[in-house]
Amino acid sequence: MFHDNRELPHGSYSRYLIARLLHYLRPYSWQVFMALILTLVSAPLATTGPLLIKASIDLFLAPDPSHPLSRFDLHVAYYSHVMGFMASPQQGISFIIAIFVCTTFAAVAVQYGQIVITETVAQQALRDLRQDIFIHLQVIPIQFYDRTPIGRIMTRLTTDVDALSEMLNSGMITIFTNVIMALYVMIWMLWINWLIAVVSLTTVAVIIVFIALFRTGSRHVFRTLRLRAAAINSFLQEHIAGMHVVQLFTREEKDFAAFRHINQEHWHTATHATFRNALFYSTLQTMTSVGIALVIWFGGNQTIRGRMSLGALVASIQLSQVLYEPIAEISAKYNIFQAAIASAETIFTLLDEPVVCGTTGTLSIAPVRGRLEFRNVWFAYKDNEWCLKDVSFTVEPGEKVAFVGHTGAGKTTIINLLLRFYDIQRGHILLDDVDIRSIGLEELRSSFSVVPQDVFLFAGDITSNIRLGSKAISRDQVKAAARDVYIDEFISGLSMGYDSEVLERGADLSAGQRQLIGFARALAFDRSILILDEATSSIDPVTDALVRDAVKRLMNGRTSLIIAHRLSTIQSVDRIIVIQKGEIREIGSHRALLARRGLYHKLYQLQFENNYPGTTAHKNAI
Ligand SMILES: Nc1ncnc2c1ncn2[C@@H]1O[C@H](COP(=O)(O)OP(=O)(O)OP(=O)(O)O)[C@@H](O)[C@H]1O
Ligand SMILES: [Mg+2]
Repeated sequence: MFHDNRELPHGSYSRYLIARLLHYLRPYSWQVFMALILTLVSAPLATTGPLLIKASIDLFLAPDPSHPLSRFDLHVAYYSHVMGFMASPQQGISFIIAIFVCTTFAAVAVQYGQIVITETVAQQALRDLRQDIFIHLQVIPIQFYDRTPIGRIMTRLTTDVDALSEMLNSGMITIFTNVIMALYVMIWMLWINWLIAVVSLTTVAVIIVFIALFRTGSRHVFRTLRLRAAAINSFLQEHIAGMHVVQLFTREEKDFAAFRHINQEHWHTATHATFRNALFYSTLQTMTSVGIALVIWFGGNQTIRGRMSLGALVASIQLSQVLYEPIAEISAKYNIFQAAIASAETIFTLLDEPVVCGTTGTLSIAPVRGRLEFRNVWFAYKDNEWCLKDVSFTVEPGEKVAFVGHTGAGKTTIINLLLRFYDIQRGHILLDDVDIRSIGLEELRSSFSVVPQDVFLFAGDITSNIRLGSKAISRDQVKAAARDVYIDEFISGLSMGYDSEVLERGADLSAGQRQLIGFARALAFDRSILILDEATSSIDPVTDALVRDAVKRLMNGRTSLIIAHRLSTIQSVDRIIVIQKGEIREIGSHRALLARRGLYHKLYQLQFENNYPGTTAHKNAI
């Protein structure tokens, strides 16, 4: 996993990242090819200006017979003659202006095409990349989400993809165009006068060395700047999400002080970076001016000595100006390029996250009978902090089994393992006597209907939240499921009924309403094994009694696992498994366990004598 304080990738690794990024352009290779051709065409068109100025001076403004005309000048002279523009210098100049206007228009038109193609290709490639990231996020094991803050994952899909977008859209094309332009200019210069060309190229070499040294020196400044910006982002993300806690515990001042501190640090680094940038660009400007001055000096001398025509001098000066532009542009895009490489690394690290925790088979067990077995299961979320220790139990098809135990005992963990959100370290979990690791993941998970502790609702209407996009579930089935769990009345009372929108996470519903919708969802999906994890903990006793009736019907003939803190809700199950600190302590029916006078008996007594768990006596008992 990429940590934001890691060194930026260099050398061969950067090249590998770029190659991998370019892979996303492969489906669009034709368009890329077209864009490259257009760049090759537009560069000479855009650099003909100085050559035309040379022709106008050497042919019409200050013709000097002591200097042979260049081939370009001869071509211009020939065509202006053919087209009848040689009668006077004015006519010749008009002809050259006409050529200039035409080449400029042609260059602009070609550049337009090139920009449209490049940006379309870039957007398509980024769309593909975003899709790949999302598809991958859906198959990464839940463990990844335990250890990765959501803010960081969101950054991959937004800021990091944007950084690539900036590079593909403007950076890459500018750099390529500029390199081609610079090459053309160098060729023109060598062609006009090799001495002046050598003088310019020497300055260019010095400037490139300067840029390289400066950039290496400022790398840490820009990296710190990025880190500090990331710190602001994650601080804001966390504090906006937890704003109600901030306000409830009147943390405003303290949190503001913390924010001011990181904001101030960012400002310091940003100012430092600004000074460095200003220094960089002024030095660059000075160096290019010195370069141009050298061209004027050497070129002027050559012209005075009659070794170079006036037109060639003016053209050389102009070309050397054009030559420095791409260099300034390329160095300006350097930051974009660096940021994009860093982003590419984080994105590809995410895409390289293994998709399953262990091996996954493809075995099919349909139709599912519903026999479950845990055989000497050991499991730890983190190395060797055993959360389940040598857990063994079986649940026969159609049996109803309840899990009880205090908070943190490992009940939800058992469900997580059954659904293979995590893989166990030792032992076996079997469904219909087949190790769940050999069963296809999709097939395994589609055998269970689960009502979890926290029901998650997506932003959208109620119907789509119950059927979750499954076409197999009709609207009538959705309504029937809602009726069965007694939430139909509430839904129908909403302004838009089943089409009413709920907020993300169901923020505009009560916890009990969310649980009932979760119930309706489980009912509508109608799978072989039912799992209820504290499914009625937020529902009032009256609705609970009604829902229990529906649940009883639902459990009929199905293997059912029920986790409940309220022991009154599980008395009618076939067996109760009591878990304590990740170990199974007792297994038996309600009656048998009470008769045993063990842990379950203590729990039961506490709940019915004190009415509610959580008292000191309760804690002592457990
Ligand atoms: N994703 C996780 N990463 C690391 N540890 C975890 C994770 N989820 C749970 N745990 C730890 O595993 C232990 C068992 O948690 P589990 O959620 O199974 O408890 P539970 O019996 O369901 O409790 P509750 O009745 O409160 O729901 C706890 O100590 C908890 O801190
Ligand atoms: Mg739990």
